[in-house]
Amino acid sequence: MEKTIKIRRGTPDDNTLLAEFGRRAFYESFGGDNTPEDMEAYLTVSFGPDIQAEKLADPNVTFLIAEIDQATVGYAQLQFGTTPSAICGEHPIEIARFYSDKPWIGRGVGPALMSACLDFAEQKECDVIWLDVWEKNPRAIAFYQKWGFEVVGTQLYQVGSDLQHDLLMSRKVKMA
Ligand SMILES: CC(C)(COP(=O)(O)OP(=O)(O)OC[C@H]1O[C@@H](n2cnc3c(N)ncnc32)[C@H](O)[C@@H]1OP(=O)(O)O)[C@@H](O)C(=O)NCCC(=O)NCCS
Repeated sequence: MEKTIKIRRGTPDDNTLLAEFGRRAFYESFGGDNTPEDMEAYLTVSFGPDIQAEKLADPNVTFLIAEIDQATVGYAQLQFGTTPSAICGEHPIEIARFYSDKPWIGRGVGPALMSACLDFAEQKECDVIWLDVWEKNPRAIAFYQKWGFEVVGTQLYQVGSDLQHDLLMSRKVKMA
């Protein structure tokens, strides 16, 4: 039977949940392609109850959490802030994190989250939505292309001691 995917906004109480889920999702997605030292260094500075609490308190950051039967199965972190010059648009918004829980990949969580991100961007009257994705992440790149994102540039991304090459992708919030 198809499960209903609910999307809700993150609240201050979600800091531990988001820290643990984000840490695990990043490790499961990229742990095999990075050294344990680089991975640990990145996870330590990126995920922890205090780190996610600060983001939840930031008015420029919004978390959209996907749930099935009250269990968290994915989340997206949207934010306003510094935008690379390759991103055009009067009022751009960034998807800073976008994860489906491993057992749910390919089962509709990604599409439900992306649809919610686009709705949020439209509510906020954003014209462009953008993200950066590791060049060695073909599944996510294929997913974003399916959703109309195009590669518009590159940027470097530090994971521990490793400087990685990411693709910048963007699309108009409202497609003609
Ligand atoms: C990114 C993510 C949310 C997308 O959700 P998803 O459920 O995988 O999305 P879908 O299955 O609908 O789409 C993925 C597409 O990539 C294709 N794909 C799967 N594995 C692939 C691979 N190794 N290479 C290229 N394409 C691949 C799928 O066939 C599918 O295309 P199709 O619908 O035309 O068949 C999910 O893969 C995820 O959470 N991955 C781990 C975390 C991550 O990488 N996040 C992105 C960080 S920028």
